Amino acid sequence: MTSLTDIWPAFGLTLTTPRLRLKSVHDADLPALFDAARSGIHEPGRSPFSTPWTEVPAEELGPNMARWHWNCRSNTTPESWTLLLGIWHDGEIIGCQDIGAKNLKVLKTVGTGSWLKQSAQGLGLGKEMRAAVVSYAFDYLGADVAESEAAAWNEKSLGVSRSLGYELNGSYRTNWGPEAEEVQRVRLTKDAFKRPDWTLKVEGHEPWAKFLGLEQQQR
Ligand SMILES: CC(C)(COP(=O)(O)OP(=O)(O)OC[C@H]1O[C@@H](n2cnc3c(N)ncnc32)[C@H](O)[C@@H]1OP(=O)(O)O)[C@@H](O)C(=O)NCCC(=O)NCCS
Repeated sequence: MTSLTDIWPAFGLTLTTPRLRLKSVHDADLPALFDAARSGIHEPGRSPFSTPWTEVPAEELGPNMARWHWNCRSNTTPESWTLLLGIWHDGEIIGCQDIGAKNLKVLKTVGTGSWLKQSAQGLGLGKEMRAAVVSYAFDYLGADVAESEAAAWNEKSLGVSRSLGYELNGSYRTNWGPEAEEVQRVRLTKDAFKRPDWTLKVEGHEPWAKFLGLEQQQR
């Protein structure tokens, strides 16, 4: 019988690192992800996100979070996609790591974003999950470049980038909410990637690569 993964291959992709499992968030995972977000991601009033999605009442955060996950899924096409991968640690979902691309076959570039609940921060897990998606992008999706950005004050995010070999790639000023924000872009090439000392385990790649039209991609 046809499975959900057969018709939606993104649901079948699983990346495993020494301490983490990264896989698509299903609807049944949304309540636990909501609880992780509600437990706190950052200091109140200091949102590190371009959309201040955490700084709303719980009755808005829940539907907004669900809507964001459903939006990303429904806008997933081979030409433009964002995978929202839940982060499981010791059987519990503790955050989210996204990876996405537009016109990947030509541009060979991915973008990433992430968050962890506060109690899971500062333990090297943020670096481990970013290293996972970047390894996947370079070694399985044929990407040459991984990009990201963070508020110029966001030392934790920029610390992850720095320690994986990203270079600063210019900054710009914008408003993320009511106030002006200085945003730092960062960029990592495959050659500059400071690889972790572990090897990523990947399951469910082939159907996802086929969906993206990458089945001829060299590994
Ligand atoms: C950003 C985030 C995912 C990073 O994950 P983390 O688990 O806290 O970070 P790690 O413990 O993996 O740290 C990774 C690296 O950054 C460095 N780092 C962490 N905090 C730092 C700080 N305050 N100043 C300087 N370097 C720092 C660490 O030393 C480490 O580098 P090393 O391995 O070379 O020593 C996490 O802190 C988070 O969710 N923050 C709130 C949401 C957020 O800011 N998301 C990003 C939006 S762009």
